Order: sequence, then structure tokens, then C-alpha cells
Amino acid sequence: MMPMNPTLHPVTEAPLRFWHRDAVVERHHVPPDRTLLDLLREDLRLTATKEGCAAGDCGACTVVVAEAVNGRLLYRAVNSCIKPAHAVDGMALWTAADLARPDGTLHPVQQAMVECHGSQCGFCTPGFVMSLFALYQRTVAQGQAVDSHRAHEALSGNLCRCTGYRPIVQAACSLQADAEQAMDQQAIVAALHQMAATEKNGGNYLRPSTLPALLQARAQHAQAQLIAGATDAGLWITQGLRRMPQIIDLTRVAELRRVEHFPQHIAIGAAVNLQEAFEALAADRPVIAPFGERFAGWPVRQSGTLGGNVANGSPIGDSMPLLIALAAQVVLMAWRKGRAVHRHVPLDQFYTGYRKSLLAPDEVLAWVVVPRPAPCEWLGAYKVSKRQEDDISAVCLAVQLHLEGGRITAARIGAGGVAATPARAMKTEAALIGQPWNEATLQAAQTAIANEFSPLSDLRASADYRRQILGQLLRRAWLESTGHRTVRLEDLA
Ligand SMILES: Cc1cc2nc3c(=O)[nH]c(=O)nc-3n(C[C@H](O)[C@H](O)[C@H](O)COP(=O)(O)OP(=O)(O)OC[C@H]3O[C@@H](n4cnc5c(N)ncnc54)[C@H](O)[C@@H]3O)c2cc1C
Ligand code: FES
Ligand code: FES
Repeated sequence: MMPMNPTLHPVTEAPLRFWHRDAVVERHHVPPDRTLLDLLREDLRLTATKEGCAAGDCGACTVVVAEAVNGRLLYRAVNSCIKPAHAVDGMALWTAADLARPDGTLHPVQQAMVECHGSQCGFCTPGFVMSLFALYQRTVAQGQAVDSHRAHEALSGNLCRCTGYRPIVQAACSLQADAEQAMDQQAIVAALHQMAATEKNGGNYLRPSTLPALLQARAQHAQAQLIAGATDAGLWITQGLRRMPQIIDLTRVAELRRVEHFPQHIAIGAAVNLQEAFEALAADRPVIAPFGERFAGWPVRQSGTLGGNVANGSPIGDSMPLLIALAAQVVLMAWRKGRAVHRHVPLDQFYTGYRKSLLAPDEVLAWVVVPRPAPCEWLGAYKVSKRQEDDISAVCLAVQLHLEGGRITAARIGAGGVAATPARAMKTEAALIGQPWNEATLQAAQTAIANEFSPLSDLRASADYRRQILGQLLRRAWLESTGHRTVRLEDLA
């Protein structure tokens, strides 16, 4: 647990309030970088929630939060270890101790865990139960069944070191709605409205609710840490032991919580979480759906944003190779001379070095703009990592081709894990454009991509492996685009 030292942790003036167990919890003087897990376990002594990795990886600390959206509760499982406590201000919150009824009757998810022998060690089980509770509220309570795919998705952020997943998946698939356990949603929605999570424009945790207020906060507090989902920034607190005396949280900015659809493009707001962003992208290009499911696990996708992934600029970030291949642009905004100004930057020109970009200190990445597909477009997006779920890429490759009459009329390729920044493979594109899409062209492109980058060797992969896999992924793209429906990499040797 992070020790609380008031000299290192300046306090926020605004109280933190959330709904919990039919009452509003109100806490004063909560430091901006206090994690939700530390608030629960240390300040409120709610110790049902466990700490495993403190890095968003294991899911032991999972709690469920809900926001009132259009009069309904929207439930999310979140990693409390990397979530600043103030980020749940104005929401409802459940921990593993809040599910059983006062008379001891278990909640359906707990009962299913008992019946399927899914309850295992005391660290992981509370987290599994909370992921199942979020799944229950989002599906079973709405009359939908849980299939194996949904169960795996919901549990993708929970690790069990003894590998006893089967009974837990079985518990998820056996969930049945229990009307007697139904929550009074309207009462909770009313309580949340009464709490009215108001805009916080002062103090050390700024939470603007409009775009102009966000831009002004950014202009006035250049030293403050801007955060969205905090799935990167939260680790700087818990793993890097970095202090954040002032935070600007952009997740409540109404204008940035939307995906806007236009005839030629879609614009994804910086407060849209990864799950919704991938769903919006997959609506135009279904191949993106399975690629999106490889991004982290469910709780990280529910909190983290596409804007945060792009702004953070990790060379092994997953969305950027895809967005580069799709010719995406970012819209950067600032408050200058009393008004909002903006500029569009093509993503392939955004990065200037390792974790460096054109983003000025007073700028915010407001939207990611993605062109809609042309009729002749073919797209492939691939992530290679050691684990299927909840793992960072060794290599990521996205290939967009325009195929007309068997010829490649346009090509854009984005690559991750091969350079200091997410990169565009322009030499490889040149080897493809204007050529017939056949084995000879593929081989020329494989040679080009092997020579285009000088990847590093690290714990995820050696440089040689990375170079080779780039070529193999191009071959996979060729096979898939020429009609092979499922391609197994091991068949390509
Ligand atoms: C367990 C785990 C698994 C993960 N798996 C993956 C993975 O598979 N693939 C992958 O690519 N990443 C992964 N990540 C990293 C992380 O989830 C992503 O990078 C995520 O998209 C970050 O978004 P965020 O909203 O949480 O950003 P934050 O953590 O809030 O912010 C990250 C940085 O971006 C800046 N920033 C955020 N939004 C903006 C904005 N609108 N304008 C300007 N600056 C901004 C912040 O100031 C900060 O410097 C993982 C993280 C964890 C903890
Ligand atoms: S403690 Fe492991 S994800 Fe939070
Ligand atoms: S349930 Fe904790 S290690 Fe498996």
C-alpha cells in the first residue's frame, strides 16, 4: 500500500463523494493521487478488495462502479489499484463485500461460484466475483445470456496463478437472473443525480465538464498531470512512485465522450473508452473487433481511452499502427488569446521521438479522426504477444490495401514494436503500390519490411524475431486477402 504523507500529497479542497451501500460516502482532504484501492482499504477499512500487483494486471483489486447515463446505470469493472479515488466521484461503487444480502443470501454470481467450485484463493476470488457482478448487471440482469465468449471477455482482466479458470468460466456461463436480487436502479440513479457530480474547476483535482473549461484548465495549470482513464498514469503512481500534486481529469468533458459519425470519417472523442472506440471502428471495419479484444483486458478497456493510448505514444501501443494504416488524424486543441484553437495532425507525423510528440504543453488531444473505408479497401490488423489477453505487443502490424482488379492501387502500413515510435512502413508500401498482389510482390514487400526497421531485442522478443515476424504477418495478410479465412502462423513455416 502507498503510505500517505501529507507533505508529499497536497490535499484537494473539494470533497470526494460516491454512493456505497445505500448511502453517500463523503471524504474530505483526499490527495489527488490517492488510489481508489488505498482509499477503500486504508481510509475506509473496506478490506474485501485485495491488492495483488498494483499495476492493473491481475484484477485482484477489481471493484464495480456505475454512472447514470440517460437515466440508466452503466456498470464498469475497474482496477481500483490504478484508479485515482477522485475519478469515481459522483458514481456508485460496489466491492465484493456488498453483494450478499444482509440475511446472508448470496448474490447469484457468488452462488454460481460456489456451485461451480470457482472460489479459490482469497486474493483473486474477490476480483473474479466483481468482474462477474459487472457482467451480470450488464447482461443477465438485462435478460441476456452469457456465452463462453462473453465470459472470457469479462474475465480477461483477472489472473489466477493456480490456473483454475474453467470453473469460473462455467460459473459465468451458468448465471441466471434472480428477480429477488434486482437492485432498485431508479433509486440509485436518483441518488447519483442528487449528488450531482459537479464540475470541479479549482483545487488539486480538476474535473472540467466542458471542452472550454478543460482547455482553460490546461492553459492555467501547465504543471498539472492530465489524465483520462489513468491506465498508464496510474502505474506512474503505484510503480514509479511519482507524486501528482495536481491532476486534470478529462473523462467528464461532455463533448469528448462522444463518437461522431460523418459521411467521410468518424471522430472519436478523447474521453471515449477503448471498448467503445474499438466498437465504433469495428462498425465500419469488422476485422477490428478481434484485434480490439487483444488490447489489455476488459477493465482496462473500460477505463483507458484511445486518446490516452495515442497521446502516451508508447512504441508498443496497439492502436497507433492500426490508426496509421487507416490514415487517422488527431485534433489538438488549446486555449489561446481567450479562445479555443485547434489543428489537425496526421498521426504518422505526430511522433517526434521516443514518447515525444508534437503535442504542445498547453494542448489537449481532443479527437481521433478516422476516414471511413473505401469500397476497394482490404484491412488486416495483427498483434503478436506472449499471452492472448492482457499483454503488451512484441510486434503489431496493420495493413490497409486498396485492391482493384488484382492490383494494389494504394497501401498504408503501420507497425509497432519495431522503432522508437509507432511507425509507418513507407518503403514497404512503395514495394506494393502499383503491383499485382501476388507471391512475387509479397516477397518483395517481405524483403522491404525486413530492411525498413531496426528493432531492439528486449524481454518481449529479439530483434531477429521481430524482423522475421513482420514478414510473416505480411504473408498472413496476403493469404487472408486472397481468400484463406483462418490462417495459423505455424502453418506458414
Ligand atoms: C494491465 C494493462 C494492460 C495494458 N495493455 C495494453 C495493450 O494491450 N495495448 C496497449 O497499447 N496499451 C496497453 N496498456 C496501456 C494503457 O492501457 C493504454 O495506453 C491506454 O490507452 C491509456 O489510456 P488512458 O486513458 O488510461 O491514459 P492515461 O493513463 O490517463 O494517460 C496516459 C498519458 O496520456 C496523456 N493523455 C491522456 N489523454 C490525453 C489527451 N486527451 N490529450 C493529451 N494527453 C493525454 C496523459 O497526460 C498521460 O501522459 C495496458 C495497461 C495496463 C495497466
Ligand atoms: S492489484 Fe492487480 S490489478 Fe490491481
Ligand atoms: S484463485 Fe488465486 S491463484 Fe488461483
